[in-house]
Amino acid sequence: MFEKLLAAIPEFKLVEDPDLREQCVECWMRAIEIGEWSFDEMLELPFTLLIDTDVTLFDHTRGVTLMADAMAGVMNRMRQDGITVNHQYVIAGALLHDVGKPIEYSKKDGAFVKSRIGRYLRHPITGVWLAMEVGLPVKIAHMIGSHSFEGDRTPRTPEAILIHQADFAWFHTLKKEFK
Ligand SMILES: [Fe+2]
Repeated sequence: MFEKLLAAIPEFKLVEDPDLREQCVECWMRAIEIGEWSFDEMLELPFTLLIDTDVTLFDHTRGVTLMADAMAGVMNRMRQDGITVNHQYVIAGALLHDVGKPIEYSKKDGAFVKSRIGRYLRHPITGVWLAMEVGLPVKIAHMIGSHSFEGDRTPRTPEAILIHQADFAWFHTLKKEFK
């Protein structure tokens, strides 16, 4: 499973610290195990049930990670008002922001639907649980927990703001409202 995840999401390799990278992959493995998904099913899991899309959760994770990586690079190059971000944490947070979704979703009669847990606990909440369970830094757990509307009343760190914006840039764009 470890190697399959690295192949499906090559952006794990952007995490330079091997221990941090391993914790990120482990977090995904826990989510897949709790959600009782096969790896082949994971390759088809959509990134959202809210819009009609062919984009999988893995594709979305890759896209958000690459976008957040680019944003962090610009922030750190420009240093406006002296603001910089922890680039490695941004990459880890992006890789993990939706790690709770394999727990939020399940499959019924061949269709992807909300799971029993997912009806009560959305992915930002289960994502924090998974991150804390594998011992990830609380700053990364915070980025997961605050990336969606759950974070709208929570002060977001600069790193969490980048994850939130990169995620919603993809989500809103793929709504294709002007297509
Ligand atoms: Fe997302």
